[in-house]
Amino acid sequence: MSESGRAASRTAVLVCQGRAVADGRAAVGRFADPVAVRLLDPAERAAVDAVRAGAPPQGWQARTGYESVRACAEVVVPRTVAIDEALRVRAPRQVVILGAGLDTRAWRLAELAGTDVWEVDHPASQQDKRARLAAAAPPELARSVRFTPVDFAVDDLGTALDGAGHDPAAPTTWLWEGVVPYLSRAQVRATLAALAARSAPGSALVLNYQAPSAKATVGRWLTRLLGNAITAGEPWRSLWQPARMAALLGEFGLRVVSDRDLLDLAEALGVSSRGRASLRSGRVAVAELG
Ligand SMILES: C[S@@+](CC[C@H](N)C(=O)[O-])C[C@H]1O[C@@H](n2cnc3c(N)ncnc32)[C@H](O)[C@@H]1O
Repeated sequence: MSESGRAASRTAVLVCQGRAVADGRAAVGRFADPVAVRLLDPAERAAVDAVRAGAPPQGWQARTGYESVRACAEVVVPRTVAIDEALRVRAPRQVVILGAGLDTRAWRLAELAGTDVWEVDHPASQQDKRARLAAAAPPELARSVRFTPVDFAVDDLGTALDGAGHDPAAPTTWLWEGVVPYLSRAQVRATLAALAARSAPGSALVLNYQAPSAKATVGRWLTRLLGNAITAGEPWRSLWQPARMAALLGEFGLRVVSDRDLLDLAEALGVSSRGRASLRSGRVAVAELG
């Protein structure tokens, strides 16, 4: 628990476990995250090993945890590939990762060798990540990584980035993956306003968000009912229809150039998935300034 009274994000750990499960298994040649497993503690790694071995544990609560990690691995593969490829083609000088969690890009993408990365996250989650990095210490591949603690619900993103040396006069590629559902509509809008105010011409936003889906919502409620403490502690607060998201981005001068659902992306990668509803409702959009 941090000084702010909030614990480090457990969904950030879940997503990292998903990437560790998929590493070397799914979409080989397009997806790889050998760093993810290094950030996990022994119990978290054991859960990854169980899924990789296809060995579900006894007991419904343990089984729910197992299924969450298994399902998460399916979701993260298309989303990671789409985002990595959007970053690679841009080769940006500045990347700001909003709600970075246990994101490993600064430690695994050689294409970021000329890039300064700002990892913005809730202070509790960021403190947890820094402790994990200190224990695992993978070499950094990005030119620099600057940790910038921000609670989107209370802190001013612009002030925090100013203090961390981000240059608003140079183009920035913003990355916002797996965070929007956990924020209210007002918090999403305020964050977009703050990032747009620091986006020089040539900037872009790579955004992952969740569209409304009755099936996916029921699935989430069921896992909560079955005692899944991970999703119970971090409820979804905003889901967006693509047209509504595009309109909101447009208000801040961000023009959507692509917006695909994860099922479509997974099929293009040739990976099979059991959780078609949650893949269908997850989306990755790229929006450019101007
Ligand atoms: C599901 S994790 C995603 C982490 C990472 N982007 C990824 O995809 O691996 C959600 C992240 O959102 C962050 N987050 C949620 N609410 C936040 C808030 N109010 N302020 C800052 N970060 C927040 C959490 O700390 C966590 O790192």
